[in-house]
Amino acid sequence: THQWRGIIEEYRDRLPVTAETPVVTLLEGGTPLVPAQLLSERTGCDVHLKVEGANPTGSFKDRGMTMAITRAKEEGAQAVICASTGNTSASAAGYAVRAGMVCAVLVPQGKIALGKMGQALVHGARILQVDGNFDDCLELARGLSDKYPVALVNSVNPVRIEGQKTAAFEIVDALGDAPDIHVLPVGNAGNITAYWKGYREYAADGVSTRTPRMWGFQASGAAPIVKGEPVRDPQTIATAIRIGNPASWAFAEAARDESGGLIEAVTDRQILAAYRLLAAREGVFVEPASAASVAGLLKAAEEGRLDPGQRVVCTVTGNGLKDPDWAVAGAPQPITVPVDADAAAERLGLV
Ligand code: F0G
Repeated sequence: THQWRGIIEEYRDRLPVTAETPVVTLLEGGTPLVPAQLLSERTGCDVHLKVEGANPTGSFKDRGMTMAITRAKEEGAQAVICASTGNTSASAAGYAVRAGMVCAVLVPQGKIALGKMGQALVHGARILQVDGNFDDCLELARGLSDKYPVALVNSVNPVRIEGQKTAAFEIVDALGDAPDIHVLPVGNAGNITAYWKGYREYAADGVSTRTPRMWGFQASGAAPIVKGEPVRDPQTIATAIRIGNPASWAFAEAARDESGGLIEAVTDRQILAAYRLLAAREGVFVEPASAASVAGLLKAAEEGRLDPGQRVVCTVTGNGLKDPDWAVAGAPQPITVPVDADAAAERLGLV
């Protein structure tokens, strides 16, 4: 029998670790690459979903966090800190427990999803709610890690990108080559940077014959890269990507330009439509921010900008359980029935 060993063991030769490195892992990675039947029909393409919500803490952040916490441990850190819209903090909190470290998180007050807050709490993180947005939180976290003995585990830490690039490796390993197009939601822009690095490394070493075009999508109320300038008060229901001044901005533009790709915006309405379609038609429950990738793909297809016959991978970045409010909102109320088969059958429309 073979159990997946986590991204550091699975891709050790492609990551900055040595035989002595004390690996901190929850066996992240090895996530499903699910063929998307309805999306393939709608677009005329061969669409797959990389389901990153299947990671141990429910998002792609675990790939970067196993590297960041491992490195912090190797360097003797006793405490880590991050700014987060919720998923980074959930991941940092879980991996810090594995490493026996203190974890401090800075989150924008009132703007992180309930499930993510619950994760940070249950893992015992020290949570500070900042009277500001994610960009303010990141500035504060950087300042604290400069002045005090606490390691910064945001994606401005380059080992985070190293860990996250393994998702591109898994996709090429599964498909036998890189796809034509890779589609991602973009927030702080670390993940698009990481995928592009992973695809380039595999192509440079001849593991794949090519690299994909990188397509990134921001929420229209939080689309600084699309606008070409920072957004002071970013707004979107997709709180995970409610970011006005992404740290990896220049790297995201490089991924776009070097790959012949694009970075565009999708509205909250388009995000929610894709969110519901993924759940109701593909059986894949993601959080709203994750659906920005699929919303962008559908938008491009509807506008006739997606040539049929291509192989497309959409990363869906986080689990739907993170943000259950959107699943319940607007849905019909469950029906209450007595303990009676005939009454239940009637309510189910079976008779
Ligand atoms: N999707 C989800 C579910 C996220 O949590 C994030 C980022 C992104 C997409 C965007 O990825 O920042 O690499 O461009 N979440 C960060 C956090 C900011 O704090 O959890 P990105």
